[in-house]
Amino acid sequence: MKEQELKKLVEDMTLAEKIGQLVQVTPDFFDQSGEITGPAAEWQLPQDKLFQIGSVLGTHTAEQVYTIQKMYLENSRLNIPLLFMADVIHGYETIFPIPLALASSFSSELTEEVARLSALEATRAGVHVTFSPMADHVMDARWGRVLESNGEDPTLSAELTRGYVRGYQGTDLEKETERLAACVKHFVGYGAVQSGRDYNHVDLSAIELYQNYLPAFQAAIDEGVKLVMTSFNPINGQLMSVNQSLIKETLRQEMGFEGVVISDWNALEELLAHRVAADKYQAASEAFQAGTDIDMMSDCYINHLSEFSELDRQELDGAVLRVLTLKNELGLFENPFRGIPKTPDSIEQMLRNATKDAALKSFVLLKNEDDILPLQKTQQIALLGPKAASKDILGAWSWIGKTEHAVSLAEGLSSGLPHLTVWDNDGRTVDIAEAYQKMKDLAHKNDVILLALGEASEETGEAASKAEIQLSEAQIELVKEISAVNENVVVVLFNGRPLDLTAIEPYTKGILEVWFPGSEGGTAIAETLMGEHNPEGKLPMSFPRAVGQLPLSYQAYSTGRPLTEKNQNEKYVSKYMDIGNDPLYPFGYGLSYSDFSIDGFEQSAKILTENQPLTIQVVIRNTSKRAGVATVQLYVEDVVTKVVRPIKELKQWEKVTIEAETTEKCTFTLSVDDLAYVHKELACYPDYGQFRFHIGLDSQQTIDGQFDYVSDEE
Ligand code: NOJ
Repeated sequence: MKEQELKKLVEDMTLAEKIGQLVQVTPDFFDQSGEITGPAAEWQLPQDKLFQIGSVLGTHTAEQVYTIQKMYLENSRLNIPLLFMADVIHGYETIFPIPLALASSFSSELTEEVARLSALEATRAGVHVTFSPMADHVMDARWGRVLESNGEDPTLSAELTRGYVRGYQGTDLEKETERLAACVKHFVGYGAVQSGRDYNHVDLSAIELYQNYLPAFQAAIDEGVKLVMTSFNPINGQLMSVNQSLIKETLRQEMGFEGVVISDWNALEELLAHRVAADKYQAASEAFQAGTDIDMMSDCYINHLSEFSELDRQELDGAVLRVLTLKNELGLFENPFRGIPKTPDSIEQMLRNATKDAALKSFVLLKNEDDILPLQKTQQIALLGPKAASKDILGAWSWIGKTEHAVSLAEGLSSGLPHLTVWDNDGRTVDIAEAYQKMKDLAHKNDVILLALGEASEETGEAASKAEIQLSEAQIELVKEISAVNENVVVVLFNGRPLDLTAIEPYTKGILEVWFPGSEGGTAIAETLMGEHNPEGKLPMSFPRAVGQLPLSYQAYSTGRPLTEKNQNEKYVSKYMDIGNDPLYPFGYGLSYSDFSIDGFEQSAKILTENQPLTIQVVIRNTSKRAGVATVQLYVEDVVTKVVRPIKELKQWEKVTIEAETTEKCTFTLSVDDLAYVHKELACYPDYGQFRFHIGLDSQQTIDGQFDYVSDEE
């Protein structure tokens, strides 16, 4: 449809039809045979209003979409097709590793590929829009939703977000019916919920917001993301769904977003619980005035927006036009059953192979004392622990994924290890003492003990905040008991957040972080443990030494009394009395079966100007006998700044494959853009002066250099 035709369509719509386009409901609203029942009845929706609704979220199958769309089109006056949205977060039916795991790849090619394949599967089920990517800046592992994030670094997160948007949307949604429109969320500040408790209060300074929270959203907008979801939280007292200045000024005017703004689930009605709206009428009118286009799953708009006497008709038409434009960009007017194949061919095996490849890139080897990994085929191995044979490895937001089709670790290892014994008392009623005795016997008899530990899916994701982020007491006890019998303990860790591993780390020789690895998790872990694949993942979030360190980021700010090696025993310095300031495992950290070292670097000049970027060439050596992938990271430190700043920030990184006993070079080119930061007037620009750079294979162990940023005139 042409733009003129869309505008004409808006002109032909009644007020109720326009408001209907701004409302989103679940499929059960349409579960009826002429009678208004269920949730539609609760909202007292008559037939005519139901067939004016604009979009649906959370369908499960192509048949369901087909049936609802057909019934809707037969009953609606203007034949405007419904838009179907869903949470396709890390795959649809075939599940990829959780986003935090994918972030460990430090690869936007991977997020792009995962998004492309997720879209391929979801569009076949009739979905048009995904509520992904989540671009929330996070620093607090207590918050269960860190699982859905790209981790603690804003630059890495922006890059990965770009990949997701490119992968979901492709270049032409009308022609490429196997692509989805993307909805970046949650705008904004959700990751800063106080005390890491979900749906809690947020108070955020403007500098922090502009420096760390907006960049990933800006990246999505620059890639042409079609929708933005507002977050549940308030910012500085103003709830996001009624936050006019952040939606209309920041998001639309400053950041240039022209697409659809949608609220989060029932967020408008929740304004009443927040005690900032007296009734649904007030909630509807304030949210609309603030710039929220679609009301997700509340009846505020459908039942109360028309009561708003000052409803600006131009604004209303603008919001409706945005929704219709999205439908048009997806080609729905011509093809309301977009994406649903007549005779689907099977793509399952291809997708499963891709999930395995993604998982291989996302595992992080945290510890490997005495080169206990990889395992040898000749070794006697025992696999124990609650995750040993568990299929609960898909993680939160895998609602269409089938747990029973996931490959467990025991299944993955079964073909590769001839001398493997699995003991998994999960779900079996055995006496605790008996179970321990059995496990200790196995520990005694075997060469290496694999302990598969971690969190259950429901302990992570939305509404899964935790005040303690250690493993359960039973699991800690198990590690201690087993290591007392046999010190060759390797922990395989399944989890959705950084954990405090201090209680188990001393009792292990190896720790492999596998997150929630997705449908082919067990196969990928087995290949890694057996050495068929060399681990390459890097932590996208620091692992703390204690929950009390949270929120935590490698981007520590300068303090007036910094802790140094010399002043550790002094009192009046910025430190804890009981533990160090540093994390147990820092951002960017991850081992390999190869041994890498950075031999040195050469820089093109001692200065950088607007017209003359600085190149830094780094030599990385693989001293081991096997090829591997090193992720070389470049951090920048501005020596004197106008506002208090983090000591270092990741600016660039490169993944380099290095053959055994050889060296490789990688080149970074730093420009003024890499030196810019948000000043007190909220503008982002660099200051002339001295800079240091730090190059390393993680954020802590680095070799360092310096340069000056000077004007071209000097
Ligand atoms: C609530 C969550 O906060 C959001 O991330 C999700 O997309 C919506 N529900 C829809 O399910």
